Amino acid sequence: MKILVLNGPNLNMLGIREPEIYGDRNYTALVSYIQEAAQELGCEVDVRQSNHEGVLVDWIQEAYGKFDGIVINPAAYTHTSIAILDALKSVGIPTVEVHISDVSQREDFRQISYAGRACIKTYMGLGLEGYRQAILYLKAYLENKYITGEEVLNVLSLVAHKSKLLKDSVVVLDGFTGFTPVQN
Ligand code: DQA
Repeated sequence: MKILVLNGPNLNMLGIREPEIYGDRNYTALVSYIQEAAQELGCEVDVRQSNHEGVLVDWIQEAYGKFDGIVINPAAYTHTSIAILDALKSVGIPTVEVHISDVSQREDFRQISYAGRACIKTYMGLGLEGYRQAILYLKAYLENKYITGEEVLNVLSLVAHKSKLLKDSVVVLDGFTGFTPVQN
C-alpha cells in the first residue's frame, strides 16, 4: 500500500516556528516519525513538503494511478486553496487531512478547510501522532474495514429511493398490469 504524505507551507519550519503551538520537534523529526509509523503499519510512504500551492497541486495530480492514499497537511492553504481541493477531487484518491494544532480552537480564519471537503477523515490537535492516526485510518479504509458516515447515508438514501419507487410502482402497476412489486 503506497501512501503519499504532503505537507504545506511553513511546516519545514517546525521546531523553530511557534513551538507553543506546533511543538519543538523539527521537520526532520516529523519525517522520521511518519516513516517509522508507516513501517510499523506495513505501508510504503513518500513524505514531501512544499511552500508552493502549485507544487502541491502537481504532486496530487502526479499521484493518480501511483498512490493508494494521500495524507495531507495543507497548512495555511487549508483555509484558502480551492486549487488543492479541486486537485484532490480530480484524482479521487482517498485522502486524510491532518493538522498538528487543534485548528477548531484557533482564529476564525482557520475555521474553514477547503481541502477537508475532499477528505474522508480529519485529525487535528494530536501533534505528530495525527499523521500516524491518518495512515492507520487510510490503511483500514483501503482494506475496506471502515465505512464512512457518508457511505452509510448513500446506502440509506438508495434504499429509501428504491422503496419509494417500489411503493409507487405498486400503486401504478397494480391497477393496470397486475405486476407485483417483486417483478418490478
Ligand atoms: C496547521 C494549521 C494551519 O492553520 C496553519 O496555517 C499551519 C499548520 C497545523 O498543522 O496545525 O501552517 O495546518
